Amino acid sequence: MNNFQFYSPTEFVFGKESEKLAGHYVKKHGGTNVLLHYGGGSAIRSGLLGRVKESLTAEGIAFTELGGVQPNPRDTLVYEGIKLCREKGIDFILAVGGGSVIDSSKAIAMGVPYDGDFWDFYSGANRPKAALSVATVLTIAAAGSEGSGDSVITKEDGGLKRGAGSDLIRPRFSIMNPELTCTLPPYQTACGATDIMAHVFERYFTNTTEVEITDRLCEAVLLTMVKETPRVIADPANYDARANIMWAGTVAHTNIVGVGREQDWNSHGIEHELSALYDCAHGAGLAVIMPAWMEHVYPHNVLRFAQAAVRIWGCQMDIENPENTAKEGIVRFRQFLRSIGMPLTFAELGAKPEDIPALVEKFGIGDGRTGGFVKLSAEDITKIYEIAVDPQLI
Ligand code: NZQ
Ligand code: ZN
Repeated sequence: MNNFQFYSPTEFVFGKESEKLAGHYVKKHGGTNVLLHYGGGSAIRSGLLGRVKESLTAEGIAFTELGGVQPNPRDTLVYEGIKLCREKGIDFILAVGGGSVIDSSKAIAMGVPYDGDFWDFYSGANRPKAALSVATVLTIAAAGSEGSGDSVITKEDGGLKRGAGSDLIRPRFSIMNPELTCTLPPYQTACGATDIMAHVFERYFTNTTEVEITDRLCEAVLLTMVKETPRVIADPANYDARANIMWAGTVAHTNIVGVGREQDWNSHGIEHELSALYDCAHGAGLAVIMPAWMEHVYPHNVLRFAQAAVRIWGCQMDIENPENTAKEGIVRFRQFLRSIGMPLTFAELGAKPEDIPALVEKFGIGDGRTGGFVKLSAEDITKIYEIAVDPQLI
């Protein structure tokens, strides 16, 4: 196991009706003048936003609203949010929504005290030295942004989707009421589940040895998702299944399952180019890309893929030929994704094979290589997109 530092300062407030405590927790964490940031309307329709506002008012906390965050959140609204926060003297941002709303909130939080362009943190030109406090009321189990120090924003001009990371943007608190996720359409639920599983796989496939504890934690999250996802697809109002998935989503991405080991993250990078270009759901893009990535890289460590096949998908180990087991695990992963309604091919995602050179170009690795498990070249990435165009579906 490698040396590590693990910092996860978020206070998680989990359970039924917990959104009614939003005002209490804003006050506890020092907020006096809040930006209430939300998405395209689901939080209004469900009555959630109203309950959160009531809770803030009951605690005497002033707030200003900024809605309209789109999935794959855009820089344009971030600029608007930064301006609004400065004008109103905002000191705390409360994100009511999913990963997109939370990531937009985090970007605004870093942008407000910064003299330059907030995009500097996403282009890699600078690192934030200060940020407003961010907290969340989570409405979808997916991105894990409620417990992560990451934010992913798309620059409208040029369609660049890039991430920034800093402990400064880890949420102060995250309110997690699984009931709120019962209004999610099945497709969106499945996209979230896929993203959660991908966050674990990005960590599971590692070159670091002697990592039994994190291997087993990863497997626990994956087995939970394999069990609970079909339950919520069949029965969207199943509270217990929703609750297990919601906590799995947080555990998957606070990094507690990934400490002390090299991680990969190529599938995320390769997917982000798809959601930037086609505006598809991140989870749907991962369903197309991650198995294709697995198909391309499994020879790098056949036994690790065979281990995943046995422990997660219940495959029988082929002692004579472990490669068969490794490959069967990938087949089973695709079958699972299909069973929950995910796309598996470029065509099902609305992606076009003729765009592959542009996707690779935008990925921007040039002659270099990227990834913590298997270092990929531009040729490798091209190959992965090509596998995703026409995968061997069984
Ligand atoms: O905008 P509204 O109307 O709220 O609708 C949203 C949106 O259309 C809807 N939704 C959310 N909660 C709902 C609901 N509909 C009904 N009932 C509810 N309770 O769901 C749609 C998707 O929401 P979004 O926030 O985009 O989903 P998700 O949480 O999957 O976030 C995706 C974004 O997070 C990024 C992705 O790249 C993508 O941009 N990621 C962020 C990460 C991070 N910050 O750590 C890590 C991830 O790997 C990921 O890259
Ligand atoms: Zn993700």
